[in-house]
Amino acid sequence: MREVLQSTAGSLARVIGLGYVPASHRTVPGIRIFRAFLTRFRQSEMTQGKSRVFSGIQPSGDLHIGNYLGAIKNWVALTETYDCIYCIVDLHAVTIPYQPDELQARIQELAIGVLASGLDPERCTLFVQSAVPEHAELQWLLNTVTPLGELSRMTQFKDKSGRVDTINAGLLNYPVLQAADILLYLADRVPVGEDQAQHLELTREIARRWNGRFGEYFPEPQALIGGGKRILGLDGASKMSKSQNNVIPLLADEQELWSVIRTAVTDPARVRRDDPGNPDVCNVFSLHGFFTSEEERAEIDGLCRTAGIGCVDCKKRLTANMAAELAPIQARAAELRAHPDRVGEILREGARRARAIASVTLGNVYERMGLERHES
Ligand code: TRP
Repeated sequence: MREVLQSTAGSLARVIGLGYVPASHRTVPGIRIFRAFLTRFRQSEMTQGKSRVFSGIQPSGDLHIGNYLGAIKNWVALTETYDCIYCIVDLHAVTIPYQPDELQARIQELAIGVLASGLDPERCTLFVQSAVPEHAELQWLLNTVTPLGELSRMTQFKDKSGRVDTINAGLLNYPVLQAADILLYLADRVPVGEDQAQHLELTREIARRWNGRFGEYFPEPQALIGGGKRILGLDGASKMSKSQNNVIPLLADEQELWSVIRTAVTDPARVRRDDPGNPDVCNVFSLHGFFTSEEERAEIDGLCRTAGIGCVDCKKRLTANMAAELAPIQARAAELRAHPDRVGEILREGARRARAIASVTLGNVYERMGLERHES
């Protein structure tokens, strides 16, 4: 009885941060569960009862409509309901060929793009991954519980490694860094598109394996479906992405928008102006879905099916409506570009907040793994 009381007291002391508890007092199963519960409880207190969302975006190219519709608009919406932590993942970006002298400008432009799209830094945490070194540290520790076989089976790894001459280990370990990103904040929710679902599943497996080895600590994060829409590119066939060369840039004026939308693939069966078209199979029409009123869409639908308007007219209307929605975003981006210090300050403040959480998690992980954190 005395022992149970001692270990309960010891664990409680640990949980509420009162110092070292001998290992012999940490192994009673009921108490482990209790501790895990308390960890979560403290966590939810920190976030005022809100679940925590974590997501990341790579600074690997200029933002495009696919990022905006598929991810960023959703990021903004999630800040209403969740405690959101959003990360510009520069350490992920260096796993594929890139220009070192362009990286900082890309990070800055990406931050400007998401802020201009409506992300309010007062209502979420936005920061650059490498500003919080705990990401790389936790990644190393998680490597030790990650099966090599799982990593080599990741479809994204197989895709990417097929496109390079030498496969670097960073490409293989990419999903472990992603797991570290999420687990460092004990996040419960991760908005992901289909292409990241497999990485999230692996994150859950890494959490389970680590918990199995060192004690219940990490929550298994759930996918937040519903966001991450798959937006097709100008080819109307593959997902809009820089690597497919099929993007509509986000920060472009009407003229630039027109120069790319002009080239978009429409209903392939509609060859001549007087052929009737089928909006159901036309990607330009599906883009109208995001920028054009229901009324105007119904009108276009009818005119397309009867060859009342041609694809060029339909694309002109899309360009105009898109330009109208994007104009305020571009104005905010211009404003932020004129004040780079403001952006720097937002990212530094975000990193300070992120690091306060990350260092507590890493401390707990070190301790549970029998490691010691050395003060320098
Ligand atoms: N791999 C993700 C992508 O390419 C980016 C990312 C990194 C991420 N870390 C993350 C997404 C953590 C969600 C959670 O889109």
